[in-house]
Amino acid sequence: MSKKLFIETLGCAMNSRDSEHMIAQLREKEGYETTEDFQDADLILINTCSVRERPVHKLFSELGGFNKKKKPTAKIGVCGCTASHLGEEIIKRAPYVNFVLGARNVSRITEVLHKDKAVEVDINYDESEFAFDDYRTSPYKAYINISIGCDKKCTFCIVPKTRGEEISIPDTLIIQEAKKVVEGGAKEIFLLGQNVNNYGRRFSGDQEKVNFTELLRRLSKIEGLERIRFTSPHPFHMDDEFIEEFAHNPKICKSMHMPLQSGSTKVLKDMKRGYTKEWFLNRVEKLRTECPEVSISTDIIVAFPGESDEDFADTIDVMKQVKFDQIFSFKYSPRPETEAEHFKEVDSEVASDRLSYLQTLNNEIHDEINAKLIGKTYRVYFEALIRDGYVSGRSDNNIVIKVKGSEELLGTFENVKITQIGRTILTGEILA
Ligand code: 5AD
Ligand code: SF4
Repeated sequence: MSKKLFIETLGCAMNSRDSEHMIAQLREKEGYETTEDFQDADLILINTCSVRERPVHKLFSELGGFNKKKKPTAKIGVCGCTASHLGEEIIKRAPYVNFVLGARNVSRITEVLHKDKAVEVDINYDESEFAFDDYRTSPYKAYINISIGCDKKCTFCIVPKTRGEEISIPDTLIIQEAKKVVEGGAKEIFLLGQNVNNYGRRFSGDQEKVNFTELLRRLSKIEGLERIRFTSPHPFHMDDEFIEEFAHNPKICKSMHMPLQSGSTKVLKDMKRGYTKEWFLNRVEKLRTECPEVSISTDIIVAFPGESDEDFADTIDVMKQVKFDQIFSFKYSPRPETEAEHFKEVDSEVASDRLSYLQTLNNEIHDEINAKLIGKTYRVYFEALIRDGYVSGRSDNNIVIKVKGSEELLGTFENVKITQIGRTILTGEILA
């Protein structure tokens, strides 16, 4: 009988891909199969996120729950970003944890598995050329890492401390991986990196300097590949050449994530983001001029230390000017070993008020954008079965749409007319 692996993945798409990597290694080298039930598992992995404080707290209560109810012989491993930043403290606080494996070290999963109390959290470890085995959650679209780590010094962000310095994966390996998934039937790839449009700045081996725009051009030549998405690009690196390639290359999906963080030039400076309010607005204008159908999403942090009412008003101003299609908004959360950790915090009630003001405005903008979608037609790539006999998919510009249907639709493209509007998902009908 095969051994069973239960894996819980928190955080971002990079973490999802890291989990796939670990599943692949454990399947190939150790014969594990995944299970949805942790009480049935021989190995329990939590792939953690540390970008804000809350998930870190949650980790220890969750670990306690797993420990109480797991099979007595089952091992528990803590992986990912919290593993990188807390290291052996995890085993001190939860002594039943068998090993700790950092976000930059997932290729070592089958080594640490056999060393009790191993703590493998080397953020300088270079796994940019490691040949992972194959495992993919979805047969229709494939996550592909293009770089590891992050070289930016944003003062709020813990990621450079958990994922180390930025190293790009050679384009030849990326293209090889993309060809393989396309041969396997996937029509969409999703390129991943902390800062994708800084791709090519540093490789570990000697190799031709290929930048992100050129990587996109090379990938789009792959026959059978229909859609390319990526996350996250940085507004600072959005040069004209990149925006023009994005706009005019038909294989690149017209959905851009532009993490604003703050609309105030002063706060952006304190955050060390490298751009101003004006630069951000200028890039949005260029993008919309070149590509009118683009949908733009963003991340915003409210109440960064020192954020005044005027600074917050600048963020609101950018929101009103840009009318983002989607906003992920967060209250600032101080993180260990970051520059802003010791900055004086904004009063927590003020922070909560700002977040709820921003979210209310966002809902209004969102409803206004959605109302205009009724009756429009989009080409949808179907990728998931959902409840009550519906299948969901995404338009090129990342609108999630469901239609009545079954399995045969999965992995196919159809033209869909929007018939009903909802906040997270729209309903449509396939056009004959
Ligand atoms: N506090 C709040 N939000 C943060 N993010 C990153 N670090 C913090 C922090 N310390 C947000 C940013 C980033 C997203 C992934 O998480 O908006 O883009
Ligand atoms: Fe992803 Fe950042 Fe969370 Fe790490 S800390 S899992 S890189 S969002």
